[in-house]
Amino acid sequence: MLKITLLKTTKDTAQTDRDVLMKPATSAEPIITKAFSFRLEIFKEPQAVAEAAATLLLQHISVNPKCVLLLPTGRTPLAMYAAMVERLQQKPLKLELVQSFNLDEFYGIPADHPGSYHTYMRNALFDHIAVPQANLHLLNGMAASPEAECAAYEAQIEAAGGIDLGVLGIGANGHIGFNEPGSEVTSRSHRVALQPGSRAANSYLFNDELESVPESALTVGIATIMEARQILLLATGPEKASALAALMHGAITPKLPASYLRLHHSVLILADEAAASEL
Ligand code: GLP
Repeated sequence: MLKITLLKTTKDTAQTDRDVLMKPATSAEPIITKAFSFRLEIFKEPQAVAEAAATLLLQHISVNPKCVLLLPTGRTPLAMYAAMVERLQQKPLKLELVQSFNLDEFYGIPADHPGSYHTYMRNALFDHIAVPQANLHLLNGMAASPEAECAAYEAQIEAAGGIDLGVLGIGANGHIGFNEPGSEVTSRSHRVALQPGSRAANSYLFNDELESVPESALTVGIATIMEARQILLLATGPEKASALAALMHGAITPKLPASYLRLHHSVLILADEAAASEL
């Protein structure tokens, strides 16, 4: 049975081999606390994706104030973080016990580098919300031993009780975190060589100077992402259309790491119409 729900548009071309279990994101219920199975929702504009994602994240925190989050960077989640900050200023939530782990960080630049994901997260979210500093975990891009750093990060995630909600973007090449094409489903946190396209996509963080973008990064592995109890993936913009189509309809393959998500028991994808244009 191939079935999908398109809640925000009438377009009915997409298919998935997973049943739909969830209610719309507009429901007053904290839907993210239940199993998603595998579900795609399409919104007209990226801002609507951001608003829905912010709603889900805040609902998740509200229902489980001790939740452990896996957080993305990139252009896509910026509006989601902005919406979260705005709403938390209007209606504070108990955040003292929330823990977050970031998906990835460039290797070879310090945390306070303007292009680092540490800096990104401080600017986008962490400087504006009341989660204690000690609860905000990011990989150290200056670690002398990437292997030891990644092993320690995995141990921290395990000690926190595992990831409750993994929030992901998707690269135009189908990467999740910085798990580039070729990544194995069994991979744990590791150092990865960045593909030219991924470096180019991140050059906006480095004054548009491609040569300044680090050539490698540390990323949480696919296996670690797959162990998250729930996954929320955001895809906006036409440059994500082919990757999203391959994620939904293509083979489950290391060539498109995001396709592994089809093996996960609880995935919600929020996309705008541009990203959904090839479904
Ligand atoms: C970036 C990050 C990923 C992110 C993806 C998409 O390089 N490492 O975690 O999800 O690539 O980024 P963007 O939202 O800017 O398209």
